[in-house]
Amino acid sequence: MSLQWPESTNKGTALLKLAHQFQERVILRDDFLGWFFDAEIVDALRADPPDFERPPRSPAEEFQRIAYWYAILRERCFDEAVTVAVRAGFRQLLLLGSGYDTRFFRLPEIAGRSVAVFEVDTEATIADKQARIEARLGRLPARLTLVPLDLARKPLATLIDRGLDPSSPTLCVWQGVSYYLSRESVSNVLDFVRTGLAAGSRLALDAAGPLLISPNETIPGIAFNIERLARIGEPYHFGMEPKEMKAWLARKGFRRIRVVGQERLEWRYLKRHTIPRDMWYVVTARTPAGDGRLHAIMSPRIRE
Ligand SMILES: C[S@@+](CC[C@H](N)C(=O)[O-])C[C@H]1O[C@@H](n2cnc3c(N)ncnc32)[C@H](O)[C@@H]1O
Repeated sequence: MSLQWPESTNKGTALLKLAHQFQERVILRDDFLGWFFDAEIVDALRADPPDFERPPRSPAEEFQRIAYWYAILRERCFDEAVTVAVRAGFRQLLLLGSGYDTRFFRLPEIAGRSVAVFEVDTEATIADKQARIEARLGRLPARLTLVPLDLARKPLATLIDRGLDPSSPTLCVWQGVSYYLSRESVSNVLDFVRTGLAAGSRLALDAAGPLLISPNETIPGIAFNIERLARIGEPYHFGMEPKEMKAWLARKGFRRIRVVGQERLEWRYLKRHTIPRDMWYVVTARTPAGDGRLHAIMSPRIRE
């Protein structure tokens, strides 16, 4: 079978990761994703998992396979970023556009070291996620804060009112989201990470290159996906060549900027190349240690 895409990208991404749990070779074990789906969906996937190794039979299947590996590889990569940061002493994690991210429950480093996790997403997603977690656990865990906030409309500085500590070095993971925003909104988010978080904070994000966001003959199924995203109201807007991204982050004052292309991640985790080249990449960067950052936190007022 191929997957029936849900009508939202966060459920779609989570469904791909859920489908991964029932594949022969699992490189990203996640026992919590099922919380966010009805039991019939989980049972159906378990009984008849999609075969992502089979040659795709339609544009929908072509792109689903690409999206599947994209979701798995970037998540593996940023799991490592989280693990490394927590082991290095970071005690605050900011997940932007977190969707149905399960790291709070899944990663032993977070549970074992009292890490405060702030998850930001749209109002509807946060409400659904909170309801699903409460249905399982009775209430939200004390160190997990879910914040409904539209990254395109409201300043991230409002997170401080929700308990984000601007003096605590923070890892900000911005996974699977940048391409849904305008360049201006992406820039605002980067500026908050650069100047609004504690000195020495870290950023991990993935970004699309031009091949992923506009119709072309190189990426199979891309036209299907662009049409699908427009239909569900989550079109792609933002993409940038990796070199340009690196220069942009440097101009914004980030340090130790590292760009890793998807091919390197495929090789690192799969030991083979299996999806078309040059569609996306991941970036990690740091804010400089010990420069004046407080002005950016203090000035913005909540704009309702
Ligand atoms: C493709 S999903 C990725 C979810 C998760 N980070 C992951 O990698 O599995 C994109 C997420 O970004 C969120 N998102 C998109 N635009 C947003 C905005 N303007 N403000 C807040 N969240 C947004 C969506 O609601 C969705 O949860």
